[in-house]
Amino acid sequence: MRYSKIAGIGHHVPETIITNDYLSTIMDTNDAWITERTGIKERRWINPDKDTVANMAAKASRMALQRAGLTEKDVEFIVFATITSDYYFPGSGVLLQRELGLEGIGALDIKNACSGFIYALSIADQFIKTGMYKTILVVGAEIQSSALDVSDRGRNTAVIFGDGAGAVILRPSDQPGILSTHLHADGRFAEELYVKDPGGSRPNKERQPEQFLDTSGFKVHMNGNQVFKHAVVRFMEVINEALAANNMAKENIDLLVPHQANLRISQYIQEKLSLRDDQVYNNIMRYGNTTAASIPIAMSEAWAEGKIKENDVICLAAFGSGFTWASALIRW
Ligand code: UT7
Repeated sequence: MRYSKIAGIGHHVPETIITNDYLSTIMDTNDAWITERTGIKERRWINPDKDTVANMAAKASRMALQRAGLTEKDVEFIVFATITSDYYFPGSGVLLQRELGLEGIGALDIKNACSGFIYALSIADQFIKTGMYKTILVVGAEIQSSALDVSDRGRNTAVIFGDGAGAVILRPSDQPGILSTHLHADGRFAEELYVKDPGGSRPNKERQPEQFLDTSGFKVHMNGNQVFKHAVVRFMEVINEALAANNMAKENIDLLVPHQANLRISQYIQEKLSLRDDQVYNNIMRYGNTTAASIPIAMSEAWAEGKIKENDVICLAAFGSGFTWASALIRW
């Protein structure tokens, strides 16, 4: 049986640290509110003069390749998860391919928001298992800061989201690596967390070229309470689904790496599953919610800190816009 295994993992975050105290100088918010409701203390925002989604992704990818003992030329396919690609189209996959000098290889974009990285990993897993490719680069990268409404009106989202990139290299193995992935969606809730523009759904009378190019409507809308309520239920469901599919119990999880949506959500799951502190990895305090990038950034940091070891069972889980939710169980 052919399995896929994570051979290397890397991440990159922009240099500029945006503290809660800084945010409170530009909008009506404060450190106490943000810390209490979300656990976030700071996040990174890009420097628009030098950072792009694709070049942050390239830095994360090179770290993952180097840790895997591989080079750019070994990569045969790219799966790129992002909701904030540098251009409306083409997607980020081709831009990363260009950054890495890999002209000709296939590049696929995934737009499943916070669940995007697990969706991307699942697709790459299938390609490796069928033997179609031997080395796949799977990336999650986001620049949220340029689309945040930093006026008082946008404070419920502006304080949460951050920028960054994470990447893994997937390779074949005769030993189990990715044990299973589980993907779900419920489009009835699409407007609970969305960016309406630039979209193709305007009435015709409004569809003037200049308005299509006007991205002033490109702001995140989130019904936070609704998202929170669904998140805590779906996170639990999809983690239990992954455990059941592998005849495992929660005690078998060496490390849970949840999508970093809100520290309160992670703590809720930890309590419900009775996991110890060392069984759950969180770094939302330092980076906020980086959507598709949050899981690979967290996994990369956990690995570098020695919290992921050979043979460990790692559980990834995510919930977000769509709604979409997903999990993956991995034998490292
Ligand atoms: O990545 C996956 C998707 N995202 C999530 O999973 C996020 C899920 N949702 C959440 O994490 C929470 O809903 C939030 C952290 C976004 C908000 O927390 P909440 O407890 O649901 O707050 P709320 O929206 O109900 O607002 C409570 C109060 C309101 O004031 P009033 O009406 O009670 O006077 C808000 O206006 O807090 C106010 N508020 C703020 N105050 C200071 C909202 N944002 C802020 C802010 N600073 N940044």
